[in-house]
Amino acid sequence: MEKKAIVLSGIRPTGNLHLGNYFGAVKNFVKMQETNECFFFIADYHMLTTHPKPDHLQQNVKQVFVEYLAAGLDPEKATLYVQSDVPVVAELYLFLNMNAYLGELERVTTFKEKARKQPSNVNAGLLTYPTLMAADILIHKSHLVPVGKDQEQNLEMTRTFARRFNRMYKVDYFPIPRAFNFSDKLVKIPGLDGSGKMGKSEGEGNAVFLGEDPASIRKKVMRAVTDSGPTEMNQIKPEPIQNLFSLMEVVSKPDVIKHFDEAYNNCTIRYGDLKKQLAEDVIAFTEPFREKIKALSSDDAYIKKLMAMGAEKANESAIKTVREVREIIGYRKIY
Ligand code: TRP
Repeated sequence: MEKKAIVLSGIRPTGNLHLGNYFGAVKNFVKMQETNECFFFIADYHMLTTHPKPDHLQQNVKQVFVEYLAAGLDPEKATLYVQSDVPVVAELYLFLNMNAYLGELERVTTFKEKARKQPSNVNAGLLTYPTLMAADILIHKSHLVPVGKDQEQNLEMTRTFARRFNRMYKVDYFPIPRAFNFSDKLVKIPGLDGSGKMGKSEGEGNAVFLGEDPASIRKKVMRAVTDSGPTEMNQIKPEPIQNLFSLMEVVSKPDVIKHFDEAYNNCTIRYGDLKKQLAEDVIAFTEPFREKIKALSSDDAYIKKLMAMGAEKANESAIKTVREVREIIGYRKIY
């Protein structure tokens, strides 16, 4: 990683954080804030493409902010802000849109997918999602963007728009950002339904949330998919069983894992015992998150203060960029 690279990532304010989000992304944000200048924001402008109700929007933004704080993002180390608190991002979005072309925007896979999913609401915001995302990234002149595989094409668009701007105005202004992909170095967190990874769109019961109460965790883990048990010594674990062991890998103590592994290998394992143990270990692991989420959720004044603090830092950096961009384009200086 470059020295002092500027890191930025946007978080969609949909639903609650689960163990998969934590190990797949948030844990790395928490690590990166120690070594880099980081910006993490809640993408609530992007949210408008699905026309949320005003109180729903507010509620979601606050909940996500609280959960990321509880998961370890530190407002003293990183700049944590809400996208709509930085309105100059919309100005940069406008500028970038003047050099974004219908053909290239229509070819973006995430656009095509969303257009298919919501055929009665294929709005211009959906089409220009990649330009808003480019504005998010370029507004802090970011270098590294930690995102999942599904966002790489959007990031490629950002690179195109940044190069195009630099070329058009004969400047070397925007750094060309790169995706920072940590996903292959990471443990993949499986869901509880026997196949695939943990996700909230995979149905009720598949994901365990960081803020989930113990009774509900117990219920979900006890209902996790298993099979009729090993029939031969040392046989390879089928996916649903391997999944439970993979979850244990991240929440349980090594000797506990060893115990159940041996029991599996000599065919004495009882899945009920395994699940009971796993449930208790998940509950213990999530305990500090649950406590922090609870405490932060009831402290509106504190959350507001942190949001204002993040907004101030983000605006300072964003306004500086837009001021320079306005000058490059040929506008009068107004801020
Ligand atoms: N598009 C991202 C997602 O769906 C969220 C996002 C918005 C984002 N703006 C961004 C991610 C800028 C990285 C950088 O998850």
